[in-house]
Amino acid sequence: MIDIPVHTLNDGTKLPALGLGTWPMDDAQAEEAVAGALGLGYRLIDTATNYRNESGVGRGVARGGVPREELVVTTKLPGRHHGYEETLASFEESRRRLGLDHVDLYLIHWPLPRVGRYVDSWRAMIKLRAEGLVRSIGVSNFTPEHIERLEKETGVLPSVNQIELHPLFPQDELRAFHAAKGIVTESWSPLGRGSALLQDPAVVQVSEALGVTPAQVVLRWHVQLGAVPVPKSADPGRQGANLDVFGFDLGPAQMGVIADRAHERLGGDPETHEEF
Ligand SMILES: NC(=O)c1ccc[n+]([C@@H]2O[C@H](COP(=O)([O-])OP(=O)(O)OC[C@H]3O[C@@H](n4cnc5c(N)ncnc54)[C@H](OP(=O)(O)O)[C@@H]3O)[C@@H](O)[C@H]2O)c1
Repeated sequence: MIDIPVHTLNDGTKLPALGLGTWPMDDAQAEEAVAGALGLGYRLIDTATNYRNESGVGRGVARGGVPREELVVTTKLPGRHHGYEETLASFEESRRRLGLDHVDLYLIHWPLPRVGRYVDSWRAMIKLRAEGLVRSIGVSNFTPEHIERLEKETGVLPSVNQIELHPLFPQDELRAFHAAKGIVTESWSPLGRGSALLQDPAVVQVSEALGVTPAQVVLRWHVQLGAVPVPKSADPGRQGANLDVFGFDLGPAQMGVIADRAHERLGGDPETHEEF
């Protein structure tokens, strides 16, 4: 089984260097995918209330039979539950659906700056962590401005910011901000959603030179940036290959050429995207 390196978060806990995404799986698909992935060696699982598959993820975790302390199960607070009391109640529902005593990593899914209640949610998450119901707390799709507001108003920085990150959108400035603040970057849509990126001539050329697949090249690029990708695959063969990126290195020129292109988002802009 593949031994996955770990990052140490700013709260002292450990985060595996690569995990499994579960959107857009339904409960049944998530159960199969998570149970299978744990058997392959995955130890970080990414879900969200809004994926509507927390029950399936929980069943997959139970079936996987991995010692609880080895696992990092992540879920996320939806926009409709922003607010202090709302966050506490929403978390309890997530925990029940997952069937877990505690959640390892709990993230605010989107900042929704127009709604303006993410600081209230953050205070609730600080309480959940203090009570031991959540091990680590973080955010997703937050900009430096949103993170600085959390720090100023609560004194507590997120451990993780999960953001759109792939060679089509490499987020150099935001990653530098995270590094300066001691926040680990997680990459969503790390494979560019399995799109044209995996057929891109530069990526294919590097993959042929190294004797690995284009997806492995892209995931290795994330790992060498120090970001934690959470690729989604429901296919056991692709899940296994996606995890097998710790036995080769990209040289500096290869790192550069992979992201040397016009940059574009595939998903929403955190300043305006509203997802409830
Ligand atoms: N925080 C947020 O706002 C946010 C937003 C979007 C996503 N996410 C998280 O990030 C995870 C990953 O993002 P994503 O699902 O959008 O995109 P992704 O992981 O970049 O791409 C997934 C797609 O690539 C395919 N794929 C996976 N491995 C492959 C391989 N080795 N070769 C070829 N194709 C491959 C998958 O199909 P198969 O299943 O058939 O392999 C699927 O169609 C999500 O599942 C979710 O957990 C978070």
